[in-house]
Amino acid sequence: MTCCGHCRDAGDFFNERTAKRELKKYRRKGPEKSTRLLIESIPDEAAANSTLLDIGGGIGAIPFELFKKGVQHSVNIDASRAYQSVSKKEAAERGLKEKTEYHFGDFTDVAPTLSSADIVTLDKVICCYPDVDLLLKSSLEKTESYYGLVFPRENFLTRIGFRLINLWFKIRRSEFRTFIHSHKKVDEIIQSHGFRKKSQDKTILWQVVLYKKAA
Ligand SMILES: C[S@@+](CC[C@H](N)C(=O)[O-])C[C@H]1O[C@@H](n2cnc3c(N)ncnc32)[C@H](O)[C@@H]1O
Repeated sequence: MTCCGHCRDAGDFFNERTAKRELKKYRRKGPEKSTRLLIESIPDEAAANSTLLDIGGGIGAIPFELFKKGVQHSVNIDASRAYQSVSKKEAAERGLKEKTEYHFGDFTDVAPTLSSADIVTLDKVICCYPDVDLLLKSSLEKTESYYGLVFPRENFLTRIGFRLINLWFKIRRSEFRTFIHSHKKVDEIIQSHGFRKKSQDKTILWQVVLYKKAA
């Protein structure tokens, strides 16, 4: 499987219908629990007057919520045009057009054209990407201070769930796959880039971790 085919087919999965459905849910109930835990873990003083890079940002729940904590500017990179378009419209409706910037594509391709940000988030994104080393490395290089991740727990439920999801993609002849990357490996890569764990939380399916760059 190539990252190209993977990202191309990600667009079929993260389509307009699912984007609109997620936006509707977000408007009604706010961010889902794992996303809320990540947002809450970012200290208010870190968010104030900061910049955000939200990779695989989907409909944009993280920037919409972090603007309330004082983030000044957000950049959203996504491999799904449908999610970006839904998020862009929502940002405009919320009066946030001037504060938000959107780039389409695989983050690892787009990264060299982007500035670094105070806070970088990957909420349920590394589980959508085959080359976790590359995605982590290229996003860590763009992080000035806080690095937040939501990714699948390594448990029975996620293992079965992800296998079934991947079987469904295979049957549909999609190159898109989901991944449960080793927590040990993810942590080692992040720490080797000079980041230290600040907080950790979990839901039944997701691990929520916030790192801070060591001084
Ligand atoms: C499961 S969704 C999560 C969306 C959002 N972060 C949330 O939690 O609601 C994963 C998103 O990451 C995007 N994505 C996956 N790999 C990506 C990559 N390498 N570069 C940019 N976006 C990516 C997908 O297009 C999709 O919108």
